[in-house]
Amino acid sequence: MGKLKLTGIQHAFANKKGQVPVLADIHLHVEEGEFVSIIGPSGSGKSTLFHIIGGLIQPVSGEVWLDGVNVTGKKGLISYMPQQPALFPWRTIEANVALGQEVAGTSPHKAISSAREWLPKVGLGGYERELPHVLSGGMQQRVSFLRALLSPQELMCLDEPFGSLDALTRQDMQAWLLDIWEQNKRSILFVTHSIEEALFLSDRIYVLSNKPASVLEELTVPFARPRQESVLQDPEFLALRQHIQGLLRRETTKHESH
Ligand SMILES: Nc1ncnc2c1ncn2[C@@H]1O[C@H](COP(=O)(O)OP(=O)(O)OP(=O)(O)O)[C@@H](O)[C@H]1O
Ligand SMILES: [Mg+2]
Repeated sequence: MGKLKLTGIQHAFANKKGQVPVLADIHLHVEEGEFVSIIGPSGSGKSTLFHIIGGLIQPVSGEVWLDGVNVTGKKGLISYMPQQPALFPWRTIEANVALGQEVAGTSPHKAISSAREWLPKVGLGGYERELPHVLSGGMQQRVSFLRALLSPQELMCLDEPFGSLDALTRQDMQAWLLDIWEQNKRSILFVTHSIEEALFLSDRIYVLSNKPASVLEELTVPFARPRQESVLQDPEFLALRQHIQGLLRRETTKHESH
């Protein structure tokens, strides 16, 4: 369960001058229990793609398949962490974390008790009954991450989950996510701007082009699991990092010359 396939996804947004194409022709897949990252230039359409997977936007063309069923335009089937934390300001932190489970049918009592159990593990013990406005941006991001992590759906889509964290907290959260993932192997689709993060976490990586985005390259990450931090120094890791950097740099310069 949690197997995703996107076929020929195209999307455009309307503005004053007409239609602006954002996604050109996206084909990608995530196998059961696989950790897949998407990396691509800012504005290339990654968050838009996630909105399409989550059924919040109907694509102009193409289909979203989950476990062999066409679910294009259907909501509530994936666990989703948006790029902006999107916490409800009137709900306490624990109630915000519990929300994903409640929506999926878990009893409120059970959802709150798992929120209380997990909040200290992301460094937010003591904040259970506070409201979101007392938290920093990075703390809010961890609340939103935990909400997605505790939602029961088999496929988790995380849109730059660690983008607002300092380097050390980010490393801790990466190691922690890997640890949890290695224990229960849900399928993960992960957007990041960090090439190192994508290489450290993923089984495969899709590199997207500029807008309108298509897949420039699909790479398999060859390192054994469980991943050790020493992999960051591996010559093959450095070569792959440089390769992806080259792909993205070419896209950026193309963009600037327009
Ligand atoms: N609701 C919308 N209406 C009109 N244009 C939009 C809308 N949402 C996104 N866009 C445009 O679509 C393009 C892709 O946006 P998107 O947020 O998907 O990019 P992204 O790859 O997630 O970027 P980033 O890495 O900066 O998060 C951008 O040019 C953006 O301005
Ligand atoms: Mg985005």
